[in-house]
Order: sequence, then structure tokens, then C-alpha cells
Amino acid sequence: MTAQANDLVRADLDRLLPIFEAKYLLPFQSGEAVRLAEAMQYSLEAGGKRVRPVLCMLAAEAIGGRAEAALSCAMALEFIHTYSLIHDDLPAMDDDDLRRGKPTNHVVFGEGQAILAGDGLLTEAFQVIAADTSLSAERRIEAVAVLAEAAGWRGMVGGQSLDLLGEALTRAGKPHDLEHLQVIHRLKTGALLRASVELGAVAAAATCAQRQALRKAGSLLGLAFQIQDDILDATSSEEEMGKRVGKDEGKGKITYPVLLGLEGARRALNETTERALCQLQSLPNPSSLTAWARFLAQRGN
Ligand code: IPE
Ligand code: IPE
Ligand code: MG
Ligand code: MG
Ligand code: MG
Repeated sequence: MTAQANDLVRADLDRLLPIFEAKYLLPFQSGEAVRLAEAMQYSLEAGGKRVRPVLCMLAAEAIGGRAEAALSCAMALEFIHTYSLIHDDLPAMDDDDLRRGKPTNHVVFGEGQAILAGDGLLTEAFQVIAADTSLSAERRIEAVAVLAEAAGWRGMVGGQSLDLLGEALTRAGKPHDLEHLQVIHRLKTGALLRASVELGAVAAAATCAQRQALRKAGSLLGLAFQIQDDILDATSSEEEMGKRVGKDEGKGKITYPVLLGLEGARRALNETTERALCQLQSLPNPSSLTAWARFLAQRGN
């Protein structure tokens, strides 16, 4: 990645994160279930990279809209992503005790509260979009529909189910194929990343062609994102990642390095990223999203 592209990624973060951070905790400031509010905020504030909200706001800008128009969608995406991580870390799923550099939600608050914190974040995501009167009623309904499709059983939740069933397949000594692995990754991670850029498009009133291009780019970016996550699990350190690493293979997860080896996984990552970049070229202002796509493929955490 060129130094110029790196500067652009940093400048985008410096510009967009304050917009997001000024508002994203407001929905949790009032309400009677105070301990649950603490649990939700604990994971939200633990220091994620904020990839999905940033991509959402950048997608709005890539078609000539304003980042602020996509703010409620950006918040909703981070709420759903954070819920997915809280549940992903539960003993019944990946059974992890470290996330975003801190003890996982269930370690601090107990499994019951952690499950409810996930439930609360999931529902709040739809509330925050429904209540955003700066978007027309039609756009709000469209955004809710896009998010529900991506987060639900045809998207992320379905992918998580296939991911868990994959462990059982491995235990039973069944061979895995690349096609099935792609389905898992497209669903468990790709769907929400696709929704991230698509919601930016919805919030900024994209044309049909722009929305299609962003959908395709987002889906490929999401697949690439999970390939890099698999690679980092096999090659990175806990300090860098803020989560346990080196567990996928032992748990029998179906991953790119397991199936293709590290070199094969890196090749697949680069090819998938290049295909995403092609889709972005038709947009009015593709430079930031392009720099981000490259940055995400090379990220170290
Ligand atoms: C981790 O996502 C889970 C995957 C979908 C690979 P991120 O790498 O975006 O996690 P945070 O938000 O920075 O913690
Ligand atoms: C997570 O995949 C995908 C979702 C949470 C939806 P992983 O299980 O690989 O994510 P990490 O490595 O725990 O962050
Ligand atoms: Mg998992
Ligand atoms: Mg996990
Ligand atoms: Mg992982």
C-alpha cells in the first residue's frame, strides 16, 4: 500500500470517528436495566476498529452524499457487529475469554447478561434506524430491510450456524470444499460488510447502479475481511489482535489457511480484494473506499 493511501485511511478515520463517537453511546444512557446497559457499553467501548461504521459513512460519501446521513446506519451496524462478537465468544460457541483486549462480556457479566447484552444491541440497532427522522420513512424501511437480511438467518446468523456445524464435520473426518467455506465466510462476515456499504448507499439515495456496485464490492470485501481474519488467527499474536489466536485449526474450524495453506489463503485474499476494487471504479468518488479495501487486506489486527 502506498504512503499516500495510508495517509488517506488515517485522515478518514480522524474525520469520521468523532462523528460516530459523539453519538453511538447515547441510546444506552437512560433505561431501568442499568447492569445490562453497562454490559452493552462495556463491549461497545472496548475498542473495536469500527470498520463497519466507517465503511458505511465512506460509501455514502463515495456516491456524493454526506457521512452524517449514514450515522444511524453506522451505529446500527456497530451494535449488531458487537452483539455478534459477544455471542461468538460464549462458551457454547467459540468459547473465548479475550476480546478487544479485554475479558469477554460473559467473563465479566456472566453468560445470562452477555446473552441479553447481545439481544439488547441487536434490537437497539433497528430502533436507532427507525427513530432517525433525518431519513425519509421510505429510506428507514429500506435500511431496516437490508440490515435484517444481512444480520439474520439468511446472513450472519446463518453463517455462524454453518461455522459451528463445520466443526462437527471436521470431527467426523468429513472433507471440506472451498465452495462450502466461501458460503460460510460470505454469510458470517460478508453479509454484514455488504450491508455496511449498502446502507451507506441507501442513506445517501444511491442510484440503482451505484447500489449494485456497492453491494457487490461489499460482499467481496467481506469475504476478503474474513480470509484475512483466518490468516491472522494463524500468524498473529494476542497482543496485536486483542483476542486469542491460533485456535481455529484446533477447534476444527473450516478456514482458508486450513484448506489452502497460508500462501493459498493470501492469494485468495488478494484476488478477492482486486475483484472488490473493480466494482468500486464506477462510483463518483471511489478513492477512500479503494484505499480502505487495500488497507483491510493488509491490516495487522
Ligand atoms: C472480528 O471483526 C470478527 C470478524 C468478523 C472477523 P473485527 O476484526 O472487525 O473486530 P473489531 O470490531 O475490530 O473488534
Ligand atoms: C466471527 O468469526 C464472525 C462473527 C462474529 C459473526 P470468528 O469467530 O473468526 O471471529 P473472531 O476471530 O472470534 O473475532
Ligand atoms: Mg466464530
Ligand atoms: Mg470467534
Ligand atoms: Mg477469527
